[in-house]
Amino acid sequence: MKRTMVKRGVVALFMAATAIGAGCAPKKPEPVKPADIADGAVDPAEWGKVYPAEYELWKKTGEPSPAGKSKYKRGYDEGEERPDKLDEFPFLALLYNGWGFGVEYREPRGHLFMVKDQLEVDPGRVKAGGSCLTCKTPYAPVLQRQMGRDYFARPYQEVLAKIPKEHQTLGVACIDCHNNRDMSLKISRGFTLGKALAKLGVDEAKLTRQDMRNLVCAQCHVTYSIPKDEKMKSTDVFFPWEGSKWGQITIEEIIKKLRNNPPSGEWTQSVTGFKLAFIRHPEFELFSNGSVHWQAGVSCADCHMPYTGEGAQKVADHRIMSPLKNGLKACQQCHAEGPEELRGKVYAIQDRTMSRFIRAGYATATVAKLFEMANREQAAGKAIDKALYEQAKDHYLEAFYRVVFIGAENSVGFHNPTEALRVLGDASTHAGQAEGLLRQALAKAGVTVPAKVDLELAKYVNNRGVKKLMFRPEHEIKDPLAGR
Ligand code: HEC
Ligand code: HEC
Ligand code: HEC
Ligand code: HEC
Repeated sequence: MKRTMVKRGVVALFMAATAIGAGCAPKKPEPVKPADIADGAVDPAEWGKVYPAEYELWKKTGEPSPAGKSKYKRGYDEGEERPDKLDEFPFLALLYNGWGFGVEYREPRGHLFMVKDQLEVDPGRVKAGGSCLTCKTPYAPVLQRQMGRDYFARPYQEVLAKIPKEHQTLGVACIDCHNNRDMSLKISRGFTLGKALAKLGVDEAKLTRQDMRNLVCAQCHVTYSIPKDEKMKSTDVFFPWEGSKWGQITIEEIIKKLRNNPPSGEWTQSVTGFKLAFIRHPEFELFSNGSVHWQAGVSCADCHMPYTGEGAQKVADHRIMSPLKNGLKACQQCHAEGPEELRGKVYAIQDRTMSRFIRAGYATATVAKLFEMANREQAAGKAIDKALYEQAKDHYLEAFYRVVFIGAENSVGFHNPTEALRVLGDASTHAGQAEGLLRQALAKAGVTVPAKVDLELAKYVNNRGVKKLMFRPEHEIKDPLAGR
């Protein structure tokens, strides 16, 4: 078996990797010429006058993510609909039925689209109010400071209207990641990421440049929760990192926080009637939890913002997207393999993750349907054993959040292959245990349960409100490793 080849000099660099992401910093680029950008200047065009190369690349995040260059992040052509996770994975349509994410859950695309996409998405997805703008607009930190708690609680449209009109649909801007005086990287969202780093015990003063090349992304590519007051108004946005450590934010601790503390109960799952929390895009959490690349000191920016151009002045690719859509240029800074060989390795990892994800997803959906049955029988007067039901629920929640975690993480396992498989393996085990307990409870109550539970997937995929539908029976997803 051929080992992953990493270029020589690079290995030496990695050897020096220690504590907080030290080591493996890419070659230091030439110092950036300091420029006169006014404090608080949000308009990227203003920054672009001084740094035109980065500005032009940044603008390209407003183009469609190229289609046909990635197996799982398929992209789309101009004028085409973006893939929706609910069509790709019908079991998610069942599991998320009951709120906005069960109506529409599109794959991500370029940064310049983010507010526009939010305006077009099912309105149920922005019901939490101003909170929803936190990782969408460069004005979020300012608005949060000015409005205090109202920023989180007031309706989405009302908070959006406080942004200057010409900037209302502006996505991530230079000011989100850079200090205007010297272009160093900075955390602009102290009110979310800053507080979360404190929970991990991280001293911000000690962060290295390489740490910052992760953390500017971790301002948004993380999971968050929105706590509510008695009137169901949002009061904050926080990351559930209590109990975790830097380099080890685990799904176990995240689930513990989501299950044991308010705010669980962001939404009600219609199939089971359970009040649940949710997990969103946990790229930073999965990646930083001891992945091979994290341990080697590689950062998000190394893979998603490789240096471009041949001129004397190196320019980081500010058209941030999948490295597969960019000829895997980023990987070749460190890996000696050719792009096709590396692509094969990425797909091998993703195929394995997908195979486990599909199994865990269907197993969890099956349990959800058994709960539906148990609830129905109970309502009809059958005595369902309380203890068995509660034990089953416990396992079900453990399975459910693990499936949500990997389903929401956008690399299909690549960011941390072994951890993704571990999480999905545990999800399947918990789902299996829940199913066994529920079958026992139903049998005890005299209910006959068919060996194969009908998931009625077409019902969930096709009845999603206004959105047009793609479910066809032959559309049911295939396990990429089936038959192997
Ligand atoms: C202010 C929040 C924010 C920051 C900071 C941020 N992102 Fe994003 N990112 C998003 C959102 C939101 C989307 C999805 C946009 C959409 O689908 O409309 C996204 C999409 C992406 C995509 C998908 C692009 C595509 O073409 O499909 C990649 C890759 C990505 N981000 C990587 C990064 C990296 C790497 C960093 C750090 C250098 C980063 N992001 C910083 C919010 C952010
Ligand atoms: C070692 C390289 C590497 C590192 C480090 C890395 N990524 Fe990725 N990332 C990838 C690959 C490969 C994919 C899968 C792309 C595909 O399937 O098309 C991916 C996918 C993504 C996607 C989804 C892209 C899409 O088109 O939908 C996002 C968002 C993302 N990464 C963000 C991050 C963030 C944030 C970090 C740091 C916390 C990070 N990545 C670290 C290589 C990397
Ligand atoms: C999502 C975060 C993010 C956004 C938004 C962003 N940058 Fe950057 N930028 C980076 C990172 C990461 C680097 C690499 C810095 C390093 O390694 O020290 C970088 C580097 C730079 C550099 C140093 C030279 C180079 O290219 O490496 C300049 C200049 C720059 N950015 C300008 C801009 C401008 C202008 C904008 C807005 C149009 C912008 N950036 C938006 C993350 C961002
Ligand atoms: C900054 C350097 C760097 C970059 C950029 C980088 N890698 Fe790596 N990669 C490494 C190192 C170091 C290792 C660990 C090598 C080892 O232990 O043999 C590694 C390991 C791997 C492995 C084996 C993973 C495992 O779990 O054993 C794969 C596959 C891989 N990289 C693919 C990629 C791809 C694809 C990209 C681009 C999207 C990429 N790498 C970008 C440095 C890098």
